[in-house]
Amino acid sequence: MEIRIKLLLVQVFIHVLLASGQNQDIVYLQALMDNWKNTPPSWVGSDPCDKWDGVTCTDSRVTSITLASINLSGELSGDIGQLSELQMLDLSYNKGLTGSLTSDIGNLKKLKSLILVGCGFNGPLPEALGSLPELSYLALNFNGFTGRIPPSLGKLTKLYWLDIADNKLSGSIPISNGTTPGLDLLVNAKHFHFGRNQLSGEIPPNLFSSKMTLKHVLFEDNELTGTIPLTLGLVQTLEVLRLDRNMLRGDVPSNINNLTLINQLFLSNNKLNGALPNLTGMAVLNYLMMQETGLRGEVPVEVFSIPQIETVVLRDNQLNGTLDVGPSYSNHLQLVDMSNNKISAFTQRSGYPADLMYALYD
Ligand SMILES: *[C@@H]1O[C@H](CO)[C@@H](O)[C@H](O)[C@H]1NC(C)=O
Ligand SMILES: *[C@@H]1O[C@H](CO)[C@@H](O)[C@H](O)[C@H]1NC(C)=O
Ligand SMILES: *[C@@H]1O[C@H](CO)[C@@H](O)[C@H](O)[C@H]1NC(C)=O
Ligand SMILES: *[C@@H]1O[C@H](CO)[C@@H](O)[C@H](O)[C@H]1NC(C)=O
Ligand SMILES: *[C@@H]1O[C@H](CO)[C@@H](O)[C@H](O)[C@H]1NC(C)=O
Repeated sequence: MEIRIKLLLVQVFIHVLLASGQNQDIVYLQALMDNWKNTPPSWVGSDPCDKWDGVTCTDSRVTSITLASINLSGELSGDIGQLSELQMLDLSYNKGLTGSLTSDIGNLKKLKSLILVGCGFNGPLPEALGSLPELSYLALNFNGFTGRIPPSLGKLTKLYWLDIADNKLSGSIPISNGTTPGLDLLVNAKHFHFGRNQLSGEIPPNLFSSKMTLKHVLFEDNELTGTIPLTLGLVQTLEVLRLDRNMLRGDVPSNINNLTLINQLFLSNNKLNGALPNLTGMAVLNYLMMQETGLRGEVPVEVFSIPQIETVVLRDNQLNGTLDVGPSYSNHLQLVDMSNNKISAFTQRSGYPADLMYALYD
């Protein structure tokens, strides 16, 4: 009986709040606060739109919560899903925020940015992340998330930024198959940052196509196997490619030379073999890192005349023959590391500042 009366009173109270023009989001913000420590001192009173630090409103509805680096701790409760006008949620760099990411996040149909970088979240990434039709920025890096990348992320047609690096995610990279979505559908994404997880299996060839507009593909430090897919050469917008520190084998596909916008290429620490591919199509290549990859044969002289080339690290391979930077090497060249190969001689070139050359051969 008492409980019923209490419930009735609460309902009446909410009605009064709404009728009196009180902020309808306050109830849910207070419920979030019940699970948090160290909320800003300004979070008092019944109107979150009135000078609450980190809260932005439009027409008395909470549209943005930004509480980065304030030592917030506790769990993110399902009440977050009730803030139905929320467009931006940034709780980054609060290590004390732990627990799993609630599926109720999927109720935030207007959410554009979800930024939880450097918190203490763990457990699986909820499938419900795929139910955020407006989401364009998703940064969940530097947490303790486990399990697979949900295929549902492939439904985020507006996604521009996908950063899930530095977690403990495992399993393969999901691609669509007619019934299930996958990351190959993210044709508007510019950033795939998946580094430093435990992703395994092959890099699916169907992940890439000429429809993709990716600028950064960062898959370093995972457990990826198989070969580098030929389809990667179709992603003409690529600027940075990192596949280093995996278990990739085979040749580097020659059409990688079609990627004319690449400025950083990291393929080191894999089990590749074969010759250094022709990379002179990469007109703006700056960094070439291919140490410990099993490269064989001679180093083509052309690689040193790529106009912007600055760093060429090819140490710990099986490269042989005579090393020649050629008569028209780039004047940006700063570091050439060829140590621990089978190179037998170096062709002297006049004017070359020898002090910049490091461990040419031994
Ligand atoms: C962060 O908050 C915790 C309690 O939640 C407290 O013990 C700790 O001292 C705080 N750290 C800083 C740097 O304020
Ligand atoms: C599509 O993939 C999902 C999971 O990856 C699998 O369960 C399903 O059977 C696949 N469907 C077809 C038609 O291959
Ligand atoms: C890409 O590379 C392949 C082989 O290296 C070549 O045949 C093809 O014409 C290139 N495509 C484009 C679009 O440059
Ligand atoms: C290397 O690629 C460039 C640009 O695609 C091309 O012009 C050149 O002929 C190629 N060099 C060799 C040795 O195949
Ligand atoms: C370099 O190695 C390749 C294959 O590993 C071999 O075919 C070639 O004869 C070697 N060249 C020299 C100059 O030793």
